Order: sequence, then C-alpha cells, then structure tokens
Amino acid sequence: MLNLVMLGSPGAGKGTQAAVLSGRYGIPHISTGDIFRQNLADNTALGQKARDFMNEGLLVPDNVTEAMVEDRLNQGDTARGFILDGFPRNIAQGYALTHMLEQRHAALQAVIYINVAHGLLVRRLVGRRVCVDCGAGYHVEFDAPVTADVCSACGGRLVQRADDEPDTVETRLRVYHEQTAPLIEFYRSRSLLHEVDGNGPVTDVTAAIVGIVEAVDD
Ligand code: AP5
Ligand code: MG
Ligand code: ZN
Repeated sequence: MLNLVMLGSPGAGKGTQAAVLSGRYGIPHISTGDIFRQNLADNTALGQKARDFMNEGLLVPDNVTEAMVEDRLNQGDTARGFILDGFPRNIAQGYALTHMLEQRHAALQAVIYINVAHGLLVRRLVGRRVCVDCGAGYHVEFDAPVTADVCSACGGRLVQRADDEPDTVETRLRVYHEQTAPLIEFYRSRSLLHEVDGNGPVTDVTAAIVGIVEAVDD
C-alpha cells in the first residue's frame, strides 16, 4: 500500500511528478483540480458549483471538495494506493483526509512537499500548456512539444489553462500562502513531511522523490 500526498505551490510540479509516479508505481493520480476541470467541461452539477471559485483562483468550498475526494477514494483502483495532488489544500481538509483514512484503516506513507523558488513559479504557470485530448502537460520554455501547440503524445491541440492568466495566478499564489502552506507544519509535526528541491529539471525532482518513496515503502 502506497498512499502519497503531493504538496506545493501552484506551478511547483505536483501534477508533472504525480503523473510519472503513477506510471512507475501503478497507482492512480488523483488531482482534485483535474476532476473539477473535467466536471466544468462536462457542465455537471459539481462543475457548476466549482466554476466561479476556480475562475477566481479561490478554493472550492470544503464540503464540496471533501465529498468528491471521498467518492474518488472509494473507487476500486485505490486498493493498492493513490497519489493525491491538490488535496488537502487547507488545515480543515487535512483533518478530513485523516478521518477518511482512519475509516478505511489506512494511513499516509509520505507527504512530498515540492519546494520551488517564488520567482520561478509565475514563469512555470504562464508558460504551461495542456493537451485538450489526453491532458498531457507541457511548457513553452522548459518542456516544449515537438511541434508548437500540438501534443507530442496524441496530436491533440495544446491550450492554456483559464486560471493561468496573470491576475488569477497572483490570487492562487496568495491563497496558497494563506491557506495551504500551513499544511507544511501540520504534516511536519506528524513526521510525514519530506521536502524536495523542485527548482531543478523534472528528472532530478523525480529521482529525489523516488529516493524518498523507496525509503518509506516497505
Ligand atoms: P489545481 O489544478 O490543483 O492547481 P494548482 O494547485 O494551482 O497547481 P497547478 O496545477 O497549477 O501546479 P502543479 O504543481 O500541478 O504544476 P505542474 O506540474 O502543472 O487547482 C486548480 C483550482 O481547482 C484551484 O485554484 C481551486 O479553485 C480548485 N481546487 C483544486 N483542489 C482543490 C481543493 N483541494 N480544495 C478547494 N479547491 C480546489 O507544472 C507547472 C508547469 O511547469 C508545467 O508547464 C510543467 O511542464 C512545468 N514544470 C513542472 N516541473 C518542472 C521542472 N522541474 N522544471 C521545469 N518545468 C517544470
Ligand atoms: Mg496541477
Ligand atoms: Zn495529448
């Protein structure tokens, strides 16, 4: 059983690393942001509840988010573990996750905190591109596709996320510092926090995380 949480600022590389780890360990990558965006695209009731908060760069209310995560964790593919990306996002969600895991008689093996210098985050976010068909992530500067605006994996069109526009990025970074960053101490005090330097190339960050996972996974 390998239950991981990826913690870090918007643009830190949580999604990029979680996708690699998911392939490597054969456990699902559960991104609350991706689930919300899918529901927005499908115009579901959940998507309608989340839309205004996401467009503003604010957190979707805890009751909505927690119910969605509980549902997702109850799906069969989490039997051997999971990688949570974007949840928990504040202290209340931290307690909610503890409670969900207790009910499943499960625990977290590690919280991976990807630490990236503030100046780099904005560049990462404004240069990000995402495939509309398969969801693969790219960066115009750091991880460019073979052909501009075309997904190297599936040929789909690459677009910018609606909340990667500069004003919204600023709000998201502020919300992170006010509401999410306190989770660093929350998990440090529970001896679950493992900090990784996220400033280097993607492969270096992956190697550091794999080193941590091999040490905690027995
Ligand atoms: P969410 O989708 O979770 O966005 P986020 O936390 O702002 O994080 P990002 O996805 O922007 O960053 P990331 O760390 O995944 O970076 P990535 O790997 O893409 O949430 C969106 C919204 O949904 C929230 O604002 C909120 O409204 C709502 N929401 C979600 N969860 C919620 C919750 N729990 N409660 C309430 N509301 C919630 O990398 C970024 C870019 O950098 C990419 O282009 C990538 O190619 C590049 N890159 C990555 N790593 C490197 C590297 N090492 N070197 C160079 N480039 C790199
Ligand atoms: Mg992400
Ligand atoms: Zn694609």
